Amino acid sequence: MSQPGWPAAAGPVTVAGGVVRLRPVRLRDAATWSRYRLNDEDYLRPWEPSGPGTWESRHRATAWPSVCMNLRNAGRRGMMLPFAIELDGQFCGQLTIGNVVRGPLCSAWIGYWVARELAGQGIATAALAMGVDHGFQAVGLHRLEATVRPENDASKAVLRRVGFRDEGLLRRYLHVDGEWRDHHLVAILVDDYPDSAVGRLVRQNRAQW
Ligand code: ACO
Repeated sequence: MSQPGWPAAAGPVTVAGGVVRLRPVRLRDAATWSRYRLNDEDYLRPWEPSGPGTWESRHRATAWPSVCMNLRNAGRRGMMLPFAIELDGQFCGQLTIGNVVRGPLCSAWIGYWVARELAGQGIATAALAMGVDHGFQAVGLHRLEATVRPENDASKAVLRRVGFRDEGLLRRYLHVDGEWRDHHLVAILVDDYPDSAVGRLVRQNRAQW
């Protein structure tokens, strides 16, 4: 059964690094997903929720089918929008809209990662802007929130650039890298801005349609 805004693709948006798109995760992402996730453990681990088993066991290519199917099932049920981020047609990270709640809340969280070798080229900023526009325009959400560790300067810059605003500190909010960690709560509301998040990047000369 399809849900509002899912399955879907978004983009293209061109940034310094190339052409960025969002599309649903798929089973054949296994090899690239696993290669980046295993190579980039020390870059990803400080920011990612803890999970069962070792990093290696959670991220070998054979782990992907069940991760991917769980994400896609949640997408079919309207609880999640699990996007792959593509750069020039190649998988380079993930952007997930999760815990979609409708009714009087109309809210969800958003999170992302981009392969280390491609960092600093505007990819996450473009992907987040596309995710925000999709969440508001196609899914019909009113609010998107994100949580970010105070030490994660790169992610805080991405969120700020797209227009997320600080809403407070969540004490020892999430178990990350072996400890309960404080997180900033940031959010963007559909009525914060009259136009699209990608449009704002284009006007700042950070992206092109
Ligand atoms: N200190 C301060 N700012 C930094 C740093 C740093 N060490 N490193 C990068 N930046 C800034 C850049 O200058 C840029 O800001 P600007 O647009 O104002 O110039 C911004 O951070 C990076 O922008 P992009 O190039 O669009 O982002 P990128 O594609 O490199 O991806 C990301 C950023 C997703 C945080 C990537 O580094 C990553 O995957 N990190 C590991 C996983 C992670 O932290 N995920 C986010 C968790 S929080 C969440 O999901 C809400």
